[in-house]
Amino acid sequence: MPVQNLAMASDQDRRSSIIEDEGSITSAVLAAMGDTPSPRLREIMAAFVRHMHAFAREVRLTEEEFELGVDFLNRIGQATHDRHNEGILFSDAVGFSTLVCLLNNGQNGATETASALLGPFWRMNSPRTENGGSIVRSETPGPALFASCRITDPQGRPIAGVEADVWQASPVGLYENQDDGQADMNLRGKFTTDADGRFSFRSVKPAGYPVPTHGPVGELLKAQRRHPYRPAHLHVLAYKPGFKTLITQVFVDDDQYLGTDVVFGVTRHLIGRYERHDEERPSAADVVGPWYSLDYTFVMEPGEAKLPTPPIK
Ligand SMILES: [Fe+2]
Repeated sequence: MPVQNLAMASDQDRRSSIIEDEGSITSAVLAAMGDTPSPRLREIMAAFVRHMHAFAREVRLTEEEFELGVDFLNRIGQATHDRHNEGILFSDAVGFSTLVCLLNNGQNGATETASALLGPFWRMNSPRTENGGSIVRSETPGPALFASCRITDPQGRPIAGVEADVWQASPVGLYENQDDGQADMNLRGKFTTDADGRFSFRSVKPAGYPVPTHGPVGELLKAQRRHPYRPAHLHVLAYKPGFKTLITQVFVDDDQYLGTDVVFGVTRHLIGRYERHDEERPSAADVVGPWYSLDYTFVMEPGEAKLPTPPIK
């Protein structure tokens, strides 16, 4: 056999996908993917295969459990549509979204981060609202909230011209896209910070809510004896070219689920002080009963401004 053919034969042997036994499958798959031109795709898929195979070996996955797992994944896809994202919900419920968030913000998780997971309910085109305006767009129960927010750089200098997108669930526990009883874009608004980095708005005090449990994620939570609740929070997405897009949530400090958020979104930094007022006059005459104020400062780091893909339309 010519030397050249010998070399080809040994190369084929090295790359052979003929599996000898359980122990040889992982290296065969890694070898088959070895020529992937993109180094990042090559790295990610190699690690994914190694960990997936190690996982199956660790738990000695049965064929029935494998089928159940594939069916679970398929049903996550089937449960996802324009108004609901079961894939994000699953990632949230197993702490994966928060892990990715912490890895990518606050110096690779070394320090407290000002970021939190996006969640499944951000919509791209919330209505532009003037500073001080209301995001209550249809009759909504619950005490009034007056939020006064500021966005600064890490040195505390105000950042003007930031687009701040705000969204929250109504006190009945549903986002407007989940609830035909709310006007389109109720409790959503897009603000622009002024020269002092400030934006403010009127809303209602957020209430906690259960994540949707009609799909496979709900079944999993039930099987694990986990409650489906999130502590009350306000979502904020702050965007300005030259700064890393800040995606975060500000949690209500007296919420009963603060310590057991089903999607693990609460960090100490993100617990806001929602101050109750019983007597002082609020800044709007139509407010009756107790009302709340929130003062919160967001910090944006210099970096690349990128918008995430909206989980729903
Ligand atoms: Fe939320």
